Amino acid sequence: MSLKGKVAVITGGGSGMGRATCLQLAKDGAAIAIWDWNENGAKETADMIAKAGGRAIAVKVDVASAAQVAAATQRTHAELGPITILVNNAGISGMVPFLEVTEEIWDRMILINLKGPYLCTKAIIPDMLAAGWGRIVNITSSSTQLGSKKMTHYVASKGGLAGFTKALASEFARSGITANIVPPNFIDTPMLREHVSKEAIDAMAEKSTMGHPGAPEDIAAAVAYLCSVAAKHINGHTLSVNGGNYMN
Ligand SMILES: NC(=O)c1ccc[n+]([C@@H]2O[C@H](COP(=O)([O-])OP(=O)(O)OC[C@H]3O[C@@H](n4cnc5c(N)ncnc54)[C@H](O)[C@@H]3O)[C@@H](O)[C@H]2O)c1
Repeated sequence: MSLKGKVAVITGGGSGMGRATCLQLAKDGAAIAIWDWNENGAKETADMIAKAGGRAIAVKVDVASAAQVAAATQRTHAELGPITILVNNAGISGMVPFLEVTEEIWDRMILINLKGPYLCTKAIIPDMLAAGWGRIVNITSSSTQLGSKKMTHYVASKGGLAGFTKALASEFARSGITANIVPPNFIDTPMLREHVSKEAIDAMAEKSTMGHPGAPEDIAAAVAYLCSVAAKHINGHTLSVNGGNYMN
């Protein structure tokens, strides 16, 4: 599934499934702009792509800052060209009992996980409209389908992102642009290891349908398909990558 000649922005590409997605889309031929506030992580991903013979730039950006997103868009244009693939993957997580979710905790979650994708999409969609072709993939979470204790703020942010994606899919359907959702479930990444102990991960694996967590590459493969030229009639869809832990 060749993406030769396309320019892709992957937010949060400095770690976990964002990094795996950068590597996969680069392998498929796209030039990659890795947008991450973790500059070292983004540079590591860019080096991995360069070593494999691909083209990538690491861009330090907080996706929740309109000014930084505008500067990142400008730099990506200058160095790689117009952008027609956007993967809104950057996000934060956290477990806080609902009664302890302060306004500050709530606002920060919504700012990064929901306003961030809005800002990135707003900045990049004019390139897609000019090209008459575009792919947007938004990374939500299985918790929007299953619910999750102590994660009201996180699930609200990801549920908002799912709704946002479907509305985009409707609004731009006649412009050659698709917008789709990938909700990961139990994927072994630094984020999972930061919030869940090794013992708890082992117990979750034991209970899971396949007996093990998913890998970042499993998400990357789904994203790559939705970004492909072949996926032109898949729009507003939710492509669950969960090993059969729930079936919809
Ligand atoms: N790991 C899982 O099991 C799981 C499950 C459901 C959903 N998700 C979602 O998948 C996405 C990727 O998660 P991951 O597990 O690979 O996490 P990760 O922590 O390994 O990677 C997230 C990346 O996003 C970057 N980032 C965070 N906030 C940012 C900001 N404001 N601006 C720029 N960059 C920012 C981080 O620096 C990091 O490089 C997230 O949106 C997460 O909510 C993960």
